[in-house]
Amino acid sequence: MSAQLIDGNATAKAMRESIRQRVEARTKTGLRAPGLAVVLVGNDPASEVYVSHKRKDCEQVGIISTAYDLPDTTSQAELITLIDELNSNDEIDGILVQLPLPAGLNSDEILERIDPKKDVDGFHPFNVGRLAQRLPLLRPCTPAGVVDLLDGTGQDITGMHAVIVGASNIVGRPMGLELLLKGCTVTTCHRFTKDLASFVKQADIVVVAVGKPGIVQGEWIKEGAIVIDVGINRLESGKLIGDVDFEAAAERASFITPVPGGVGPMTRAKLLENTLFACEELHN
Ligand code: GUN
Repeated sequence: MSAQLIDGNATAKAMRESIRQRVEARTKTGLRAPGLAVVLVGNDPASEVYVSHKRKDCEQVGIISTAYDLPDTTSQAELITLIDELNSNDEIDGILVQLPLPAGLNSDEILERIDPKKDVDGFHPFNVGRLAQRLPLLRPCTPAGVVDLLDGTGQDITGMHAVIVGASNIVGRPMGLELLLKGCTVTTCHRFTKDLASFVKQADIVVVAVGKPGIVQGEWIKEGAIVIDVGINRLESGKLIGDVDFEAAAERASFITPVPGGVGPMTRAKLLENTLFACEELHN
C-alpha cells in the first residue's frame, strides 16, 4: 500500500474533545447543556446500533440526549405530534429522526416538519437550499465530515475534479454541494450512469456512497487520487467493508479512508457539532 490512511477515528476523537470542552465552558457559566432528541421508530437492527452510538457520543461530550423509542405501529399523525412538541420545547436544540422509517410512514413530510433551526441532520429543504446557495447553516453530517477529512490531508483541493458515486439525499447530493463550495469541479454518478469506470478514472477525488462492495475497482483509481469510501457493508462473516476495492485502490491513491474508522466516526462527531452550533448560534 502506498496511500496514506485518513484516520477518521482520530479526527473525530479530537473533535469530540473540543466539543466536550465547549459544552463544559457553557455549563460552567450557568447556561444549559445542549439538548438532542433522538427519535427511533421500529426495530431495525442497524438503526438501533446507530442510535445507541449517537446517544453514547452525546453523553461523552455533555449533550443531553432524550430517547424517543416508538413502536413500528406509530402513525404519521402521532409522529407529527411528537415533532411539533419537540419543535416548541426550549430545551431541545436538535431533533434527529433515524432513517429509514418503517414502511407506511412518509419520511419527507416528517423531515420537513422539523424546525429547520433544530434540523441537526441538515436534511430539511431549507438547510439543503442554504447549502446550495452558498449560505450553509446546518449541514448534512456525512458530507461535512468528509470535507473535514479532506481538509485534514493538507491538500489544496481547489480546482480538483471530484467524482461522487451515488446521488442520495443523505450523502451524494449534499456532497456535491459541499465540494462545489470547496472549488472542485464536480461530477455525480448514479445508477443510470453509463461507463462508471470512465468517470472514476478521471477523478482527483473519488467519494463513493452506494452501499455495494466492490462497486469501485482499485484499477480505476487515478495515480495519486484521494479516495473517500462512505459505504459500510457487513459481510456474512461479520466483517465490515466499504464500497471500494480497498487493497488495490490503496496501491494507487495518495490518501484513502479505511472502513471502518474513516467516514463513519466523522458523521457521528458532526451531529454533535451541529447540535452545539444550533444551541449556541440559533437558540440563544
Ligand atoms: N440513516 C442513515 N444515515 C442517517 C443519518 O445520517 N441520519 C439519520 N437521521 N438517519 C440515517
